[in-house]
Amino acid sequence: MSRIVISIDRITQTRYGVKNKSKNRMKKDRIIILGIETSCDETAAAVVADGRDILSSVVASQAHLHSRYGGVVPEVASRAHVEHILPVVSQAVEDARLTSDDISAVAVANQPGLSIALMVGVTAAKTLAWAWSKPLIAVNHVHAHLQPALMNCEVIDLPAVALIVSGGHTNLYEVCSSVQLQLLGTTIDDAAGEAFDKVASILNLGYPGGPAIEKIAREGNPNAISFPRSLMEKNSLDFSFSGLKTAVLYYCQGQDMKGQNRAHLMSRQEVADIAASFQAAVIDVLIEKTRRAIERVGARTVLLGGGVAANNALRTALEAFCRNRGLAFFVASKPLCTDNAAMVAALAYPKYKAGLFADLTLEPKASLD
Ligand code: KG4
Ligand code: ZN
Repeated sequence: MSRIVISIDRITQTRYGVKNKSKNRMKKDRIIILGIETSCDETAAAVVADGRDILSSVVASQAHLHSRYGGVVPEVASRAHVEHILPVVSQAVEDARLTSDDISAVAVANQPGLSIALMVGVTAAKTLAWAWSKPLIAVNHVHAHLQPALMNCEVIDLPAVALIVSGGHTNLYEVCSSVQLQLLGTTIDDAAGEAFDKVASILNLGYPGGPAIEKIAREGNPNAISFPRSLMEKNSLDFSFSGLKTAVLYYCQGQDMKGQNRAHLMSRQEVADIAASFQAAVIDVLIEKTRRAIERVGARTVLLGGGVAANNALRTALEAFCRNRGLAFFVASKPLCTDNAAMVAALAYPKYKAGLFADLTLEPKASLD
């Protein structure tokens, strides 16, 4: 998988998964779907054949626009999506060496996410579907995060448990099929990625926080500080990370929270120890809840996806956990962990085959159905 970073109007655009396909290779026999993703701060488009062959994938990240605010500003995100949606879609079609005639359907993530961000992708997808006379397919963004892990397995040994950890969601599912997921547990407050971002902000590490925490945590001792692991009731599969985030804040401001945040006065080693200890606490909770879910459904396979799945420490820990128990483990390739449109086009494929099409009244939805 090649990864090229180019710059368009100060937006970092990442293109990956571009394969040198012969233009006419069995095009007629294939279901080729254009996917569009604008749920948060990435404008993305991708062309995927038969649900697993990524012909192109273009992601225009806005991270630098939001970094000064320490998080995503919906109005800024929406405006950037409007500016970039057409260049990104054109680039994806061009990279795939196709024309609109070759596209079987247009898919879009219409939920969940920031309404005014989703609106841009939904409007673009509806317009293209109408102008090109193609079917329109609506995709759930969180469910789509599972697709890159599924792309890595030919056959899946069911029952399976999927852990999707992103900036907005921390969800455990029982996987019944690629389009049928049964929610087992979810976060009752902050999502894991959100906790990474907030703790990075407390430690002045910048936005997005996950990669910054992971980087400095490599220099730290994960056992330096004993941060709490909120596991809730014995059988609960839900998550809560806000207490952990607050514990980091207490640690930096003093137990009465009356002191100033000392993070900017700390040595690099001290910050690294906090980051490593925080990361270890998140991973312990994710693994313990996954263990409970595995037991609940008698799972033989574990799947991992979402932005936080790019974290090496998490990938390694969950893989080792599964290996020790003889469970199959599949994780999204790193570039496909964070938001992209290949996962949207991939999930649209089984929907296309099942004839599950949307019409032009499709609306964005901020929260999950
Ligand atoms: O899936 P995603 O791109 O967007 C949402 O659907 O929310 O996930 C973004 C989240 C952010 O909170 C980001 O800090 C986190 O994923 N993230 C990471 C890493 N890379 C991204 N968290 C921990 N370690 C990483 N390497
Ligand atoms: Zn996402």
